[in-house]
Amino acid sequence: MLGKREVTKGEMSEREMGEEYQRIVILTGAGISAESGIKTFRASDGLWEEHRIEDVATPEGFAANPRLVHQFYNLRRQQLLGDAVQPNAAHLALARLEAEFPGEVLLVTQNIDNLHERAGCRNVIHMHGELLKSRCARSGELFPVGGDINVDDVCDCCNLAGSLRPHVVWFGEIPLLMDEIYNALHQCDLFVAIGTSGNVYPAAGFVREAVAAGAHTLEINLEPSAVQSMFAEKRRGLASEQVPRLVGELLSVNSMTR
Ligand code: OAD
Repeated sequence: MLGKREVTKGEMSEREMGEEYQRIVILTGAGISAESGIKTFRASDGLWEEHRIEDVATPEGFAANPRLVHQFYNLRRQQLLGDAVQPNAAHLALARLEAEFPGEVLLVTQNIDNLHERAGCRNVIHMHGELLKSRCARSGELFPVGGDINVDDVCDCCNLAGSLRPHVVWFGEIPLLMDEIYNALHQCDLFVAIGTSGNVYPAAGFVREAVAAGAHTLEINLEPSAVQSMFAEKRRGLASEQVPRLVGELLSVNSMTR
């Protein structure tokens, strides 16, 4: 239910849930895809427990052993393309918000899966890249990928073997479309982070930008994130339960106040 919320000491936002919003920015992380069967990064059984980040998620790791890095992302891609991985109720609710909310909604995801798009979202920024695309390391040209990428694949633009890499932002690289994201953050009146541990910047710093813009800030996560103290409001629980509830609230407030 929407309603007035007690404002606790230390909260920085003057806005709160229950208002009519016009410009919403939503940041999603691995937690939103966890219930679709995709592993998160920092859980005890997470991807970074099984692999060294330096080996599989840095330009240096790729230069040292491209075969290993391709294998790592090929496995992720095979899993994503399997029948078992489907959008969950949280992805579907965000697609409904995008379709029905009368103001602006920008969805920024750190996830490289395509579950937001498969749920029906159209306006998605993949700031850490996309698993279903490859990139020519020489020209930057992007190509759709429906299977494995291998070290001896010949690139369509430069006709050379070995120049294709996963279209994934690695540690030490700059995330994509940052100007567009910061512009939206500086104008938003509601910022919601869903299923992200707040360990990786610049995404973990978005809440600070939104607070500076005067937005209401809400964290939806199973547990407190590393930047939870920056959020005016926190909701703990499964994304598949919390996100449909939030979307219902946002759409009902808006239809009441229009
Ligand atoms: P993490 O694995 O660091 O954090 C996932 C968060 O989701 C944790 O705080 C969990 O508590 C929470 N969570 C798990 N299941 C959930 C559920 N069903 N509902 C709600 N919350 C849930 O993943 P990210 O924060 O997305 O970057 O990681 C950020 C970046 O670090 C990734 O994009 C990746 C990684 O290194 C690159 O590879 C460049």
